Amino acid sequence: MEDIILKAQAITKSFISGNERLDVLKNIDLEVKSGEWLCIVGPSGSGKSTLLHILGGLDNADSGSVTLNHSNFSSIKADEVSQIRNRDIGFVFQFHHLLPEFNVLENVAMPLLINGTNRDESFKRADNILKEIGFSERGKARPSELSGGEKQRVALARALVINPLIILADEPTGNLDAANTDILLNILQKLNQEKKTTILTVTHNPNVVEFASRKLILKNGKLLSVEG
Ligand SMILES: Nc1ncnc2c1ncn2[C@@H]1O[C@H](COP(=O)(O)OP(=O)(O)OP(=O)(O)O)[C@@H](O)[C@H]1O
Ligand SMILES: [Mg+2]
Repeated sequence: MEDIILKAQAITKSFISGNERLDVLKNIDLEVKSGEWLCIVGPSGSGKSTLLHILGGLDNADSGSVTLNHSNFSSIKADEVSQIRNRDIGFVFQFHHLLPEFNVLENVAMPLLINGTNRDESFKRADNILKEIGFSERGKARPSELSGGEKQRVALARALVINPLIILADEPTGNLDAANTDILLNILQKLNQEKKTTILTVTHNPNVVEFASRKLILKNGKLLSVEG
């Protein structure tokens, strides 16, 4: 049997906005298998980012549980969840969230520095990841000096530098042109195939879906499987 690396059970999440209550996630169950590339698609506003943030321990569900590699987020302390997140989850956000006051190399090294890895080792590993994705020559650049596609690659490098158990990527190719989309998807594919890194992407982009090994649809608060 394939190992389940990430499991969500009966996740619900609502937002209150003014007098309205928005039930975004309604009893979501999900299992991500080790080594797979799962893609969740769904219309804008369907709750993809909300779900991904809950799965990554960045936000709490109203009810239900998330278990990553045998750690149940609801039964451990918040700072333990943060530790697990920093150690095991490579986040690629919908908006890259690079730190503007740090250069590329520093941004990529940041998760390691936060984890307490020493500076030399952190920068060495950050440089290696940038080399792997073909971007090491711009290590000294600030995020503001990069194009959108370049920023997204740096954000991916930052997600990869910890050698994560799982990558959670929110619209990793959002705002990228065809060439940059291709570059990014090929990096993810290589990682998935060669290093067997587990990937969960949420996206509108049909190109991303084609690369994934499994696809689910988030619609009206429910997660549905699709054939083919
Ligand atoms: N903090 C919040 N307060 C109130 N409503 C919120 C909050 N965060 C998200 N929502 C609402 O929840 C719904 C789901 O938002 P979410 O960002 O998860 O959608 P999405 O599927 O990621 O959309 P997109 O494809 O546009 O990124 C939206 O209707 C959004 O307005
Ligand atoms: Mg979103």
